[in-house]
Amino acid sequence: MTHRRHKRAQFSSKFGVIAAAAGSAVGLGNIWKFPYITGQYGGGAFLVVYLIFILLIGMPIMLSELMVGRRARKNPFGAFQKLAPGSAWKYVGLLGIMAALLTLSFYGVIAGWSMEYIILSAKNAFNGQSPKQLQDAFEQFISSPIEPLLYQIPFMIFTGAILISGIKNGIEKSAKIMMPLLVLIIILLDIRALTLPGSSAGLEFLFKPDFSKLTGDGVLAALGHAFFSLSLGFGILITYGSYISNENNLGRTTMQVSFADTAIALLAGVAILPAVFAFGIDPGQGPGLVFITLPNVFAQMPGGVIFAILFFILLTLAALTSSVSLLEVVVVYFSEELKIKRRTAVFLATTIISLLGVICSLSMGSFKEYTVGGLNFFDALDWLASNALLPIGGMFISLFVGWKLGADIASNELRKGGHFPHWLLRAFIFICRYIAPVAILFVFLNGVGLLKF
Ligand code: PHE
Repeated sequence: MTHRRHKRAQFSSKFGVIAAAAGSAVGLGNIWKFPYITGQYGGGAFLVVYLIFILLIGMPIMLSELMVGRRARKNPFGAFQKLAPGSAWKYVGLLGIMAALLTLSFYGVIAGWSMEYIILSAKNAFNGQSPKQLQDAFEQFISSPIEPLLYQIPFMIFTGAILISGIKNGIEKSAKIMMPLLVLIIILLDIRALTLPGSSAGLEFLFKPDFSKLTGDGVLAALGHAFFSLSLGFGILITYGSYISNENNLGRTTMQVSFADTAIALLAGVAILPAVFAFGIDPGQGPGLVFITLPNVFAQMPGGVIFAILFFILLTLAALTSSVSLLEVVVVYFSEELKIKRRTAVFLATTIISLLGVICSLSMGSFKEYTVGGLNFFDALDWLASNALLPIGGMFISLFVGWKLGADIASNELRKGGHFPHWLLRAFIFICRYIAPVAILFVFLNGVGLLKF
């Protein structure tokens, strides 16, 4: 085997690529959001629609991002500049980088809550608390000025510290440790949930589709979440694609990463919903599901303290591998485009995002009065990133691959490291040109409120 030296960093193994990309995909979206939106939109029928979107739209866009990244071997801004010189496409990359920066500001805050809940679990703090008390405690904690910052800031520093060590020794190595650990924890939690008396009602809720419960809003939420969960539209997979060697088969990588992301979301659903049902609690509680409903479940469950600790470690680890990817997008952009050292870029990006995060956190309490369009700063950033920047980014990436990059280059990239059937290539290009952009446009118009179902 010959070893060529690349100046640009690369992942060192196929497992490393999958661990890193799945690390990005598996996050708060899978463990915190997927179970609660499935609960809100009626269970099984929502799940079916979600799975169709992953397959039909999510996977082609993931493939598009990876392809653009590997072809250009640049950050998302530089990648479009290289593949379409002198055009405005580079702003699509810039949009993604912005979205990553804004998303990480509030993502780090939620990750901080999760860390606090590891400590609370260890102190057995949920024991004997009524649901109302648990809710008050959560609301008081997130709105207090200092406490959440004592977790959010260390979390961000930790994320930055992983990136300082680079692609192979930082991102790849940490993902190779954290991802298997995460799978192990989630399986333990599943076993616990499934052995509770009365847990089958939760499984039925999750897996038995009742299409009469499905709403137009639910369909759009499913597509939006498929995007968020696979980490699409932010240039993350363009960035990671730029570190993937030509021996890797991108089609296979896409399949493996999407499968892992979906499997973990389902395993999280199976860990949470049966337990919620076993204790007769309403699953449609919304964002408070893991911080209010679950502590209530843990308080009643035999061995609850241990499982609570494990659960919040799981949530924190999942958030960390995703935060690493969000920060990396910003770091590689700073270092390549501003031509600064990687270390300096890590420092700069971590500082900016942490400070924005502090504002997000304070907007839950002290800064509550300052609102943008009726939303506090935290919700405004979430709204902007998830409902506007993410779909726009995803739409343009698919248009770029469908119309600008074209079938020839796509076919060339897809055949590297393996085989890619011709019919699948044609289907892929067709989806990129027409299906994905139109579907995303609907989500976007619904998200910004211009269209209502
Ligand atoms: N996919 C991550 C999750 O499910 C979130 C994320 C979105 C991470 C976009 C990076 C980019 O939580």
